[in-house]
Amino acid sequence: EKGGWSSFMAKEVAEEPEAVANTMRGRVQDGQIVIPELDGMDELFAGVSRIVIVAAGTAAYAGLVGKYAIEQWTRIPVEVELAHEFRYRDPIVGPDTLVISISQSGETMDTLMAVKEAARLGAKTLSICNTQGATIPRESDAIVYTHAGPEVAVASTKAFVAQITALYLFALHVARIRGTLSPETQAEQIAELSALPAKIQWVLDNEQERIEQFAHWMADTRSVLFLGRHVGYPIALEGALKLKELSYIHAEGFAAGELKHGPIALIEPGQPVFVIVPSPSDSPVLHSKVVSNIQEIRARGARVIAIAETGDAAVLPHADEVLRVPLAAPLFAPILAVVPLHIFAMGLANAKGLDVDQPRNLAKSVTVE
Ligand code: BG6
Repeated sequence: EKGGWSSFMAKEVAEEPEAVANTMRGRVQDGQIVIPELDGMDELFAGVSRIVIVAAGTAAYAGLVGKYAIEQWTRIPVEVELAHEFRYRDPIVGPDTLVISISQSGETMDTLMAVKEAARLGAKTLSICNTQGATIPRESDAIVYTHAGPEVAVASTKAFVAQITALYLFALHVARIRGTLSPETQAEQIAELSALPAKIQWVLDNEQERIEQFAHWMADTRSVLFLGRHVGYPIALEGALKLKELSYIHAEGFAAGELKHGPIALIEPGQPVFVIVPSPSDSPVLHSKVVSNIQEIRARGARVIAIAETGDAAVLPHADEVLRVPLAAPLFAPILAVVPLHIFAMGLANAKGLDVDQPRNLAKSVTVE
């Protein structure tokens, strides 16, 4: 039930802190990652030489974020592929490949068929799923459930942050098995993860009203672009997807580094561009690159809305609007940066009087190919 909320989506965005906390609950003990569902599988995770993540929609963007962390922490090469593309291209996977599927519903037909194809080819399969007993986890060799709670609104929000959390827990678990992270680094990452729920809550408490107000002012916008680098790139894709799903506005996400290779041609005076800005202290090189990207598009008249860390004063002179998120280590920043984008997409759809829970033409779970 919606309780006192105006929509399921409003409720589910408000539950993003809890979704992360509940996905972690019981899985961090005495400073160690403990995933009882994966007991007895250490040998499997020690032996895999490659990981392929398959998913659709928002879940695929969670996979893209996960790739950065899994590769950095475990040094296992990771590819992320849309499930429907994977299935029909005679993919090269075998017994040394772990295919991880990500699905909120656990019933998405495209993802299910990709998992079946992976199994047929001899790969081991792991399901990251939010729905107990759904088809995809039943068809998989291993399961790590996200505990975001039931998600009703068609556009996925709290499940997305829970999926990234589960991928990170899994990556840290495998890093311990493979000995690829020092105990100190492992402890630092666990501390970062544990700090996320309070930081997401900070965004909701301090920025939500302002973002909703801002979305109201932008209700007549025809097109919005989103730029990000590194882990900010999948967040740009997610920001654009949410906006098109909910408000039917043309929206595209780009890797900021790709700007000069094409997308900059789209910039004309007044074009709104959301830019996910990396931390100046933790990622100084990326930060300065993104600030130059901002300068390039602003020189051509773009209206820049920066999503930046609270302490980032350097970005202020370059942005028309700054949406604040607390400081987090680089790999954890996307879980915070996505929150303003979820709020914005919802706020804009509300401003246009649209049904944010049931956008036109979409279904919560697509059980046909
Ligand atoms: C889409 C939903 O059709 O399926 C998206 O509208 C979702 O919100 C995608 O991200 C994948 O769904 P699932 O259940 O496999 O995560």
